[in-house]
Amino acid sequence: MSRGVFAYDTAMNALHIVNARAATLAGGRYSILENAGIVTDGERIAWIGPMRDLRPEGCGQDLDAQGALVTPGLVDCHTHLVYAGNRAAEHEQRLRGASYEEIARAGGGIVSTVRATRAATAESLRRQSRVRLEALAAGGVTTVEIKSGYGLDVENELKCLRVARSLGSDSVRVVTTLLGAHAVPPEFAGRADEYVEKVCAQMIPAAAKEGLADAVDAFCEGIGFSPDQTRRVFECAAAHGLRVKLHADQLSDLGGAQLAAEFGALSADHLEHASEAGVAAMARAGTVAVLLPGAFYFLRETRRPPVEALRRHAVPMAVASDCNPGTSPIVSAGTILNMACTLFGLTPEEALAGMTLHAARALGLEGEIGSLETGKRADLVIWDASQPAELATQVGMIAPHAVIFGGRLRQA
Ligand code: NIG
Ligand code: FE
Repeated sequence: MSRGVFAYDTAMNALHIVNARAATLAGGRYSILENAGIVTDGERIAWIGPMRDLRPEGCGQDLDAQGALVTPGLVDCHTHLVYAGNRAAEHEQRLRGASYEEIARAGGGIVSTVRATRAATAESLRRQSRVRLEALAAGGVTTVEIKSGYGLDVENELKCLRVARSLGSDSVRVVTTLLGAHAVPPEFAGRADEYVEKVCAQMIPAAAKEGLADAVDAFCEGIGFSPDQTRRVFECAAAHGLRVKLHADQLSDLGGAQLAAEFGALSADHLEHASEAGVAAMARAGTVAVLLPGAFYFLRETRRPPVEALRRHAVPMAVASDCNPGTSPIVSAGTILNMACTLFGLTPEEALAGMTLHAARALGLEGEIGSLETGKRADLVIWDASQPAELATQVGMIAPHAVIFGGRLRQA
């Protein structure tokens, strides 16, 4: 399908998108509105409905979607994209048979990125990270969550959060998460409890005071932090009024899903080893499951997250890139949508809902973004495609025809 490039009148405050196949995701589930019209007013969607009800009055600029699929802007609700260097050499080690855990225990893994990130100036970190953010944005992403977690001391965690915040722009929204409890830094080797103490006594208060974090995350795992240590981090986050989320049950079942649910976490992420009881607890707490097929793929895992149980318990499933240098060096939303289907068995519609509606909820932004509904932010993508299956199948072939962010056509 080929469409002309829209001429855009920046003086206009309203857009009339006509002849759309709108995947609205309205009412909390995947749904499609054929022959749709969408009217924006400033940053918001003022009206969405069938073309026959579209009133021609009011001055606005027409964008003819010519029957193309229009979706909410994609939301990548779990990334670690602020980091320096890369870990290609570790990928080679893994190809020769070393495991992720072995590499981590030998001083590689997360800690090797910590060395590179600490050594980088904020400016260099920003330059390296912006390339990744722009690649995600070019694939139709309009909101990105970015975690710290490669600084692991107060100064460097705050540096990473400031860099992340500074990457937000008038074409992509950035939400930040403090992941101080990502790994035990080398200077605290063998003293994880003391490090957690520092995260609670200094890091969380400092990030909260500067308003640098929208939430707090932790890596609850044998090579990360124990459930008890995670609990301390969560209690401290709550005391500072910050919501929590968790890297839970990725490599083993430590009851991370239950722990996240107990604290009313926004999301529990990874979940390959989560139990049925964990899934049930998440359902009761309204905690979103964030599925990360990129990490599953790169680590050549064989145990899949409990998708059937998540469906049965009606736990919303978000899908995210987990963009990071070790387990998911991927900045392609289309590839992630594809992997969610091929590796985890989601339908293309579930995958799309996972990168819009449910991802928005995983960030606590469900009132603002993630679906095309009156009153929500006018973040949307007009695709060179007509159905979600194309987005999840034609890997690397489909790009957004146009992206509208906050009611404004994103300029290439
Ligand atoms: O989400 N699991 C822990 N954290 C990241 C990996 C980070 C890294 O290896 O650098 C993840 O997979
Ligand atoms: Fe992660």
